[in-house]
Amino acid sequence: MRILAIESSCDETAAAVVEETGEAARPWRTLSSVIASQVAIHREWGGVVPEIASRQHLRDICGVVERAMGDASTSWADLGAIAVTQGPGLIGSLLVGVSFGKSLAAAHRLPLVGVHHLAGHIESLVLHNGAMPLPAVVLVVSGGHTSLYHVPAEGEYHLVGKTRDDAAGEAYDKVAKLLGLGYPGGPVIDRLARAGNDRAIDFPVARMTHADRAQGPARGVPGPFEQALKWRADFSFSGLKTSVLRYVKRRQEERAAAVDRGQALHNAPLFGESEVADICASFQRAVVESLIERTFEAARWFGAKGIGIAGGVSANSRLRTDAMARGERAGIPVFLPSLALSTDNAAMIAAAGLRRFRAGALAGLDLNADAALQM
Ligand code: KG4
Ligand code: ZN
Repeated sequence: MRILAIESSCDETAAAVVEETGEAARPWRTLSSVIASQVAIHREWGGVVPEIASRQHLRDICGVVERAMGDASTSWADLGAIAVTQGPGLIGSLLVGVSFGKSLAAAHRLPLVGVHHLAGHIESLVLHNGAMPLPAVVLVVSGGHTSLYHVPAEGEYHLVGKTRDDAAGEAYDKVAKLLGLGYPGGPVIDRLARAGNDRAIDFPVARMTHADRAQGPARGVPGPFEQALKWRADFSFSGLKTSVLRYVKRRQEERAAAVDRGQALHNAPLFGESEVADICASFQRAVVESLIERTFEAARWFGAKGIGIAGGVSANSRLRTDAMARGERAGIPVFLPSLALSTDNAAMIAAAGLRRFRAGALAGLDLNADAALQM
């Protein structure tokens, strides 16, 4: 069976056609995946402007869907269902995809499936690597989310930790803005950090610990659902962002004092190239260490046989390298999506849609977009 999926939760209009293979080890094959990115439009404003995003989705969606069908050499009669991202995300953006998906389902008399955006990110791992060994622990780390899931069985996701404030990708974007590096911040900080010293500045990362964890993490305990409820640890990145801000402010004050002393610095940039690289590398080390620490701790606690890392920040080169190395040392395989499947796309929504379709979770034409949809 083939499914057409639509994703429009943030600033990418995407459509994809994905087919079932009939093989449990590698259940899905991507026939097409089309993404119209709005990054160039929002860059001008330093971040995503919701109203502009929904209007641009409206302009792009017909062409993106037609192209996905064409690239897959698929006609409407070849499809078995339509999947669409129902939430979470920007409500105006979501509404464009949901309304379009419902209209297609009604016009072509196809079953409709509503998909949780983060289920899509999790299933991007299976789409790219094939079935994961279970139980698994999956970190979804993106511009809007930093959430840790215990996955005891296929299609079952239990949230066991999330950020209490900023998402990791959001911290990347805010720090990049602070340093005048543009939007989105992840790819540029990732690139600049390669030339920097990651120990140059000691940026701290808060460890948020749930009261229930007073008993401490047990080692190698298999994780039934009751344990998933007991083990909970959250992330926090706003303190890290603030310490970068404080560092920048201090350097601005030092410079103002130097100008007061008569030094002619007015036109020189605040930071030289190597200092920017050091800030990026030190910030990135703090983010990556905290993500990896918490994820491997959860894997130990739940007796996970595999670890997955998905979402836009999983494109980060240091996170990828460090997670793979740590997995090798710990003897636990680490799964990542391809770079193209890390950031938002519709192929992952198709994969999660097929999973839901096979579980019998169909939506009616009263399906509504939900900006804060729970998994
Ligand atoms: O999953 P995604 O495309 O959209 C959301 O669902 O949020 O993730 C976008 C986020 C942005 O915050 C972007 O800065 C971050 O992913 N990102 C990266 C990298 N590439 C994208 N962060 C760190 N390193 C990267 N290479
Ligand atoms: Zn996403």
